[in-house]
Amino acid sequence: MALTLGLIGYPAKHSLSPWLHSAFMDQVGIDGTYTIYETSPEALPSQLSKLKENGVDGFNVTVPYKQTIMEYLDEVEHAAKNIGAVNTVACRDGKWIGYNTDGIGYKQSLKDSFPSLFTGQKNVLILGAGGAARGIYYALSQGEFPKVDIANRTKEKAKEFLSLKEKQIETNILDYAEAERTLSQYDLIVQTTSVGMKPNYDQQVIDLTRLSKVSIVSDIVYQPIQTKILEAAQNRGAQIHHGHAMLLYQAQAAFEIWTGKQVQVDSILLDLEKRLRGD
Ligand code: ATR
Repeated sequence: MALTLGLIGYPAKHSLSPWLHSAFMDQVGIDGTYTIYETSPEALPSQLSKLKENGVDGFNVTVPYKQTIMEYLDEVEHAAKNIGAVNTVACRDGKWIGYNTDGIGYKQSLKDSFPSLFTGQKNVLILGAGGAARGIYYALSQGEFPKVDIANRTKEKAKEFLSLKEKQIETNILDYAEAERTLSQYDLIVQTTSVGMKPNYDQQVIDLTRLSKVSIVSDIVYQPIQTKILEAAQNRGAQIHHGHAMLLYQAQAAFEIWTGKQVQVDSILLDLEKRLRGD
C-alpha cells in the first residue's frame, strides 16, 4: 500500500519537504505521497481529525504547531518531551507518537561533515535561544562536548535551557558582547537566530574579530545559503557549515522513523543547495 505522509503548518506551502521526501521514497523504492496541509489555527482540530480518519502513516509539524500538536498525541518520546516541541509524528496501529528530529538531524549533519569535531574535548557556542536552539542544545549537550555555552540577546531566555541538561557538561549563559570577547575558545559556533535571514542579508548577530581560524561556524539559516556571518567566517579562514544541511538531515531522521530506512543524503544535499541558490 502507498505510504501517506505530509506536513502541517501555517504557512507551509513553500516547504521543500515534499521534494525531499519524494527523493527519499524514490531512492528506497517506496511508493507514496507527501502532502502539504497548510492549516490555520481555527482549522487545526478538524484537519487533524481528517488525517486520523484517513489513516495517514506520518507527518511533519512546523510553525506554529510544534508545541500545540502535543495535545493531540498518544505518546511523546523522551527528547521531544524535554525539548517541548514535536516536528515528526508517526502513526502506528492507530496511535500517534511524537518525535523531534531537528536536533539529532543537525548533530548528524555535523558528524558527516566534520567528524573531527567529535574527537577530543571540543567547546561549542550556540548563538540564540529560540525554538531551534533548544533542540540543538539538547542534542549537543549529550556528552560529546565538555562545554556548550549559549549566548542570547535576552540572557533570561537562555537560562531556561539549563533544565534541558541531562549530562555533566558545562554551560555558561552569555550576552553577545561576552561571546565576542571569548570567541577564540570555541571550536564550533552555531548561529540559530533569524539575524541575517532573507531579506536582512546584511545583518550579522555578532562580530567575528576574535574567531579562531581553526573554528567551524555553522548557520542554520538557509535563505540565503551564504549568510553574512558565514562569509565573514570564511574570510577569516574558518570552516563553515551551511543551514540547508539541518533541513535535509531532520527530514532524513523523520523518514527513518516512518519507514525504518536510512537514505543516502550526499547527492540530495548538493541538489538542495543548487535549488536554494537558484541554479
Ligand atoms: P526559532 O524557532 O526559529 O528559533 P524563535 O523561537 O522566534 O525562532 O527565536 C528567535 C531567536 O532569534 C531568539 O534567540 C531571538 O533572541 P531573543 O530571545 O532575545 O528574542 C533571536 N533574535 C531575533 N531577532 C534578533 C535580533 N534582531 N537580534 C538578536 N537576536 C535576535
